[in-house]
Amino acid sequence: MPQGEAGNHIVEMLEIQGGRVLEGAVQVSGSKNGALPILFASILAEAPVTIRNVPGLSDIHHTLEILSELGLSVDTQSEFFGGDMTITIRAGEGIETTAPYEMVRQMRASICCLGPLLARKGRARVSLPGGCAIGDRPVDLHLKGLRALGAEIRIEHGYIEARADRLVGARMYLSGAFGPTVLGTQNVMMAAARAEGETIIEGAACEPEVICLARFLQALGVSVEGAGTHQIRIVGQPELGGTDFTVPPDRIEAGTYILTGAMAGGTVTVEGCDPGDLSSLFDVLERLQVPHEVGSDSVTVTGVPRLHPIDIATLPHPGFPTDFQAQLMALLTRIPGISILTEKVYPDRFMHVAELNRLGARIRKEGPTAIIEGGHRLSGADVMASDLRASASLVMAGLVAEGTTRVHRIYHLDRGYVRMEKKLRNLGAEIARKSEQSAS
Ligand code: EPZ
Repeated sequence: MPQGEAGNHIVEMLEIQGGRVLEGAVQVSGSKNGALPILFASILAEAPVTIRNVPGLSDIHHTLEILSELGLSVDTQSEFFGGDMTITIRAGEGIETTAPYEMVRQMRASICCLGPLLARKGRARVSLPGGCAIGDRPVDLHLKGLRALGAEIRIEHGYIEARADRLVGARMYLSGAFGPTVLGTQNVMMAAARAEGETIIEGAACEPEVICLARFLQALGVSVEGAGTHQIRIVGQPELGGTDFTVPPDRIEAGTYILTGAMAGGTVTVEGCDPGDLSSLFDVLERLQVPHEVGSDSVTVTGVPRLHPIDIATLPHPGFPTDFQAQLMALLTRIPGISILTEKVYPDRFMHVAELNRLGARIRKEGPTAIIEGGHRLSGADVMASDLRASASLVMAGLVAEGTTRVHRIYHLDRGYVRMEKKLRNLGAEIARKSEQSAS
């Protein structure tokens, strides 16, 4: 798949003819944000690990490239970008300990190699990730947690230089001004997995992806208690075994298709998801008065003309996820009246506002709050993807806009959604992936 950022590359876009009513079922893929930390955690294990239901996404592909560059052996038993994969990883003794800028720059989650490299090799040199479309992405809490375990860390020439002859379990508080850190909690959990004694992380993130990593570490032989709460207790082990682990379904992909069904359905059933991860989304659907039925591993939603505007803020789990904010905003443009959407996790995460307005939406930003005057007709236009969830919101709007919408630079979308155009076509959407010369 042609990749590319700005420059003279061939890039891809999605071309959508709006107005088709979606009907049918869509299957959820494995969780991107569940799989990423687990792939990095494989650095910790002396024995081979097999990881199943890994989604065929560019972020996953990039992570496997990083692991290979670090000297791990990576065996994917299926074609890439085709869907969900089974991967076997062997982390022998010849592991490198540097993750260079070129690798980390493209994917912030690469910072998650820091904890495992420190735990396994006693040192790590990882580029600072830098900012991205949703705001600057500090890692101060990651470093605070690793220092609490005894790591010596300094920042030089844009790199995190970390050393730890031994890691010793400690008690720490890991939340910041915007609440807990998901990747920071996971980074520290992975370092603590081979630290001497017990580590207690207070103010830990509660996201389902943290629980997923805890289950993986338990499968490697680590004692982990309290994952899913704000206090996680870990007792490190000097050596870790291998395991065969299956990644759970992607809750953000599931919620994206549920909101898409509410916006462009007909009746859409999202299959192979875990509704237990979606309580705050169901609360929003109830407040919007979107008809929906929740099964054991599926959710059926029906698009109806008369919905109610709402006032809502994104919050750390179990609050309404920031990763649904752009998708909900797209839906709110359809609802007559004034809706208020406040972003309390990433206050700058509004690159999609200007693009939705190009499609005819009327959204005004007041600091971390978007004011949406909904109910206005949307008309197709050329729009630019920016971050992966903003890209999804533009596709959603294109599905209901009159005429043709082209969403450019969809390599952003391919980071988090397996073959979105194929899944939407199966629901009756008129959407196609096309190549183009990049504009700049
Ligand atoms: C994870 O990012 C997810 N990424 C993000 O999903 C998600 O939006 C985010 O959690 C919040 O739920 C992955 O899991 C790969 P944070 P993460 O550290 O861990 C501040 C997607 O769409 N902060 O929980 O990097 C930070 O600026 C992606 O799949 C510090 O101040 O996010 C933010 O305001 C986008 N210091 C807040 O905490 C730190 O050291 C939450 O960030 C770390 C974070």
